[in-house]
Amino acid sequence: GNSDFDRFMSWVTFQPFLRRIYGCSFLPYHDYGRGGRGWRDLWQDCLSLLLMEPGDVGKMILANFGGVRMDGTNATIIGDGIGNFIADRNGIPRVWMDHAFWPFMTVRMYIDQTGDMAILGKKAGYFKDALVMRGMDRDQDWEPEQGSTQRSADGAEYAGSLIEHLLVENLCAFYEVGAHNIMRLRGADWNDALDMAEEKGESVAFSFAYAGNMVWLADLLESYGKAEGVSDIEVLKELGQLVTAGKDAWDTAEKKGQLLDSYCASVRSRISGETVSFAISEIAQSLREKAQWMKEHLNGQEWIDGKDGEGWFNSYYDGSSRQVERYAENDADVRMMLTGQVFAIMGGVAEPERIAKITKAADRYLYRQEIGGYRLNTDFGEVKSDLGRMFGFAYGEKENGAVFSHMAVMYANALYSRGFVREGYQALKALADTSLDFETSRMYPGIPEYFNPQGRGMYSYLTGAASWYMMTMLTEAFGVKGRGGDLLIAPKLVGEQFDADGKAAVSLEFAGKKLHITFENPAKADFDGCKVIKAVLVEGAAEQEIGQLEDGCVRIARSDVQEKFGGDLNEIRVSLG
Ligand code: G1P
Repeated sequence: GNSDFDRFMSWVTFQPFLRRIYGCSFLPYHDYGRGGRGWRDLWQDCLSLLLMEPGDVGKMILANFGGVRMDGTNATIIGDGIGNFIADRNGIPRVWMDHAFWPFMTVRMYIDQTGDMAILGKKAGYFKDALVMRGMDRDQDWEPEQGSTQRSADGAEYAGSLIEHLLVENLCAFYEVGAHNIMRLRGADWNDALDMAEEKGESVAFSFAYAGNMVWLADLLESYGKAEGVSDIEVLKELGQLVTAGKDAWDTAEKKGQLLDSYCASVRSRISGETVSFAISEIAQSLREKAQWMKEHLNGQEWIDGKDGEGWFNSYYDGSSRQVERYAENDADVRMMLTGQVFAIMGGVAEPERIAKITKAADRYLYRQEIGGYRLNTDFGEVKSDLGRMFGFAYGEKENGAVFSHMAVMYANALYSRGFVREGYQALKALADTSLDFETSRMYPGIPEYFNPQGRGMYSYLTGAASWYMMTMLTEAFGVKGRGGDLLIAPKLVGEQFDADGKAAVSLEFAGKKLHITFENPAKADFDGCKVIKAVLVEGAAEQEIGQLEDGCVRIARSDVQEKFGGDLNEIRVSLG
């Protein structure tokens, strides 16, 4: 219903291509980076590729897993071409604690979009350089001449399944905690500028995120077992201790540290290369136990009550081991950050009652509609050198309280995914409105990396936010997404997104077919009143009903998409009521 928004979306959809070509910097005023892409960007750019050019993404994913080290950290220097990682010869040990979170998210979406469950069983190598013990030590026996692939005792290059890689990444993260039994922040997390709390900092924000990963990984492993007809999987012998240890062995920070150290020491140089077999049910149960423990621990320890029944989660511990966020009577003294809220919601740790409280607090302390919506944090009024260089940026610039598009979009995505549709829509809309308001944003068309305190759009084009914006519009607002390879249409549109005739439409590619899906909602009802009542494939004058209705959405089997849909544009009409 808004042609400006449609045109804006064309540019947003184009941005991921630019980012893939030019990396994270390119125009003269992109004052960071040298055109490269980092580990996080590598995985997130796969998300938009999956929606636009899914063809080779499977190969790319498999190759990217070759950048994971045996201790769950990963190569951070990315070479030319796919899957080329470069050993850090200087041995600069920087570990970003969020890095292990993204690969699983990408794999999960890949499987949903393609149905290629078998990829989980495919094998990839591991990356090897001098850095060991999660970047805390150097392997004196390793020389660059040995090559940057992990070898086993007999000198052979070792390869393990993607399941094994995912377990290595997520379990090692789980065990690396600080004094509050929260995952350590290390060199930083998503927020690259939280880089000055290496020793004692903890990221509550990404502890939420990993908790979500563990539950989904457990679900995915069970689906894999069913789909492939297997009940056991092989993993490297050394990893066994991290999988099987029961709660008594890891419920305190100290015990977690001991287990992790013992594992990392066992894989510091060459590894055994031997595998042991575990029942999928046992691994899934152990992942769920860990996630459940985290959920209770985080909800119990990190919640902050605000005024008028509002509240939110603390997102970090600083380098002095203190909780970073706080409530205060005086609004100017409140400290609130968006990141923790995003992942508590996305990771399923926050229950709906708390989500409602969070959204109210975010609206009070972080929302500025005229400059793009949700800011990253409130003004701490302090150069907080025991947390990160972000506090050296003026308030409202970059990672210090700007409306940082990537996190604002992830906030929207998280809200939609938990059924908070109006709230998610508001976050997306504010970003689009400000981008489109040239007098304020003064930028090229598209979404910027961030809006500064005056609402000016900074760093045009090259932001991961574009992938996420497109993905959220498509898979959450329009609700068109893969589900185990099938096509699921589960719209969460709001009344004003429909045009004067009560129609809204989207074009996409799925399972190699081109689709144009029109949603018909003559009453222009909001999401809660617009469940799918019928979906038809339109061929000239002929129409045939397609898919199975499931709780207000429609699911079309992949085989139907492949057999019933033609080579040209397929017109689908979805009636809402
Ligand atoms: C940039 C980096 C991204 C990082 C973010 C916050 O965001 O590319 O890896 O997480 O800053 O520090 P982007 O360019 O995606 O907007």
